[in-house]
Amino acid sequence: MSQHDDATVLLDEDHNEVIRMFEQYKSAKDPARQKVLARQICQELLVHMQIEEEIFYPAYIKATGDRENLKDGLEEHQEARELIRKLEQAPVDARLMLELEDGILHHVNDEREKMFPKARKTQGMDLMALAQQLQARKMELMAGQDA
Ligand SMILES: [Fe+2]
Ligand SMILES: [Fe+2]
Repeated sequence: MSQHDDATVLLDEDHNEVIRMFEQYKSAKDPARQKVLARQICQELLVHMQIEEEIFYPAYIKATGDRENLKDGLEEHQEARELIRKLEQAPVDARLMLELEDGILHHVNDEREKMFPKARKTQGMDLMALAQQLQARKMELMAGQDA
């Protein structure tokens, strides 16, 4: 992250990273490697959803009043969490991983096409300050994980 990135750029970097990890997972042949990647994807997603829900989404709803996209976003996070819970019991379940990837691609697209443009247009969001908060919280959460 560069010092000049705003919150939407920072969050979209996470999106690109997790999409890249799904690609790695799909091209991995070794089940042990698949298991490691599946676990990393789930951890990355849990942290990302948590910082969005703690920091970005509340600032977004306050500034835009856009309940519809917020509600969709939260529902999609819940769907992803349910799949992640199932995957924790069976981390190399290829079908569940595909389902998770589909859901995440759809969700990322919604944030990119709907929420982020609105966030950039509205007056009430300090996207630079939010980026700092998101980054700090992400570091904190990642430090608390057994990697
Ligand atoms: Fe999200
Ligand atoms: Fe996101």
